[in-house]
Amino acid sequence: MVQLENTKCSFLVCLVVCVLICSAIYLNAKIPKISLPFTDWSSQTTPAPESCDILPPATPGFTWQQKDHNFSYETKPDANCTLLQSDLHFIMEPLSKEEEDFPLAFIITIHKELETFVRLLRAIYAPQNVYCIHIDAKAAEEYKTSIRNLVGCFPNVFVVSVNVNVTYAGFSRLQADINCMKDLVKSPTKWKRVINLCGQDFPIQTNLELVRYMQGPEWKDRNITPGIKQPPTMKHRTQFQYEEVKGTHVAPKGKGQKKGPPPHNLTIYFGTAYYSLTRPFVEFVLTDKLAKDLLEWSRDTFSPDEHYWVTLNHMKEAPGSYVEGEWQGNVRAIKWKDQEGTAHQGCKGRYIRDICVYGIGDLQWLIESENMFANKFETASFPEALHCLELWHRHKVLQHAMVPIQPSWRLTTEVKVINSTLISKPDD
Ligand SMILES: *[C@@H]1O[C@H](CO)[C@@H](O)[C@H](O)[C@H]1NC(C)=O
Ligand SMILES: *[C@@H]1O[C@H](CO)[C@@H](O)[C@H](O)[C@H]1NC(C)=O
Ligand SMILES: *[C@@H]1O[C@H](CO)[C@@H](O)[C@H](O)[C@H]1NC(C)=O
Ligand SMILES: *[C@@H]1O[C@H](CO)[C@@H](O)[C@H](O)[C@H]1NC(C)=O
Repeated sequence: MVQLENTKCSFLVCLVVCVLICSAIYLNAKIPKISLPFTDWSSQTTPAPESCDILPPATPGFTWQQKDHNFSYETKPDANCTLLQSDLHFIMEPLSKEEEDFPLAFIITIHKELETFVRLLRAIYAPQNVYCIHIDAKAAEEYKTSIRNLVGCFPNVFVVSVNVNVTYAGFSRLQADINCMKDLVKSPTKWKRVINLCGQDFPIQTNLELVRYMQGPEWKDRNITPGIKQPPTMKHRTQFQYEEVKGTHVAPKGKGQKKGPPPHNLTIYFGTAYYSLTRPFVEFVLTDKLAKDLLEWSRDTFSPDEHYWVTLNHMKEAPGSYVEGEWQGNVRAIKWKDQEGTAHQGCKGRYIRDICVYGIGDLQWLIESENMFANKFETASFPEALHCLELWHRHKVLQHAMVPIQPSWRLTTEVKVINSTLISKPDD
């Protein structure tokens, strides 16, 4: 069989060479595209972003092309899902036994940009995992419909059963996660950890790397919620009452009304809103009286998602808690403006609310950071940054795969130009 395959290959390679020589001699290279075996005709390709230098060097003589720089598509309720999965380059098989044995749950809160969501979902998608999508209640109906049509093609992706209007720094941000958790504990998937993401995040690590990180000695059976005891500069967040105003922002309630002390004499912590939580911890959050009392008390605080998880995770009683934990845990790579010159050397994109929206020049720093995910990306302002990281990430994912790779899983292909004709490398 192998020999037959080799003979077939040799024949095809000969054929390619013949066609090329013929075209060069007889057609004087006037024909822009020649039908060749091995060429991927199912999707157009365009060059990878020029400054995408995080990609490994291409084979000498070849350059990187990306398969669907122009992805204009519409989602239909009656889509052919097999076709949609392959057109959008979703990986529909577990890539290793190790990953299959450690399913993850994801909570993704989104409100706009279908294309960005597709790129994020296909980067983290694996058939053994489960995904709860929280769409902001005030998002456009058209957007909600598109997302519903898309996730309808994946049995392990669903839209949250109760969605809320999400306000930045408001209690609704926390409520969105909790609503997803309530659905996730009912899912048939035996997920081991839950990770939350927003539409502006993108993974740096592969699913296999995430699984290994969470099973490693530092985090085995432990939640990751980086944070410290509430510093004095953050006290106002829980000493005074706040409220969400018109679904747009959070403001002090009345004339600076004071709040009572936390329930059960809890010590309040402060940290990131991003986490990786064990399943028993999530069950504790949803059922324990203490956790529920803290949730109720947090309703009129400022940015409660930045104290709720961290506070609970510092309690001895909470499953998987880390009472002595501080900022440990590589949950997010973020370039904060006030850490310029220390943690990083500036933002190559631009700062929004003192957080860097990445440009392509920030990617080297990101991939060296060892974090699970990066925040923030904005397709509207810096599309190449997201595209380039996506190509790099998928390349790494496929390199880690322990199963044969389907052609549709690739986002890049190596090509060379001969007589104005693009030729893909045979194994792409
Ligand atoms: C993308 O592809 C569609 C359909 O092939 C085409 O109509 C459109 O002009 C393309 N857009 C860009 C920006 O190339
Ligand atoms: C969906 O598309 C695939 C691939 O083109 C095809 O084999 C299959 O028959 C289609 N399924 C339906 C239900 O149309
Ligand atoms: C969200 O806010 C809109 C107004 O902006 C309102 O019409 C709608 O009922 C709200 N939805 C929920 C679920 O609160
Ligand atoms: C509350 O906790 C503080 C220390 O955090 C302790 O000094 C105080 O006695 C506690 N109060 C009650 C009522 O348990």
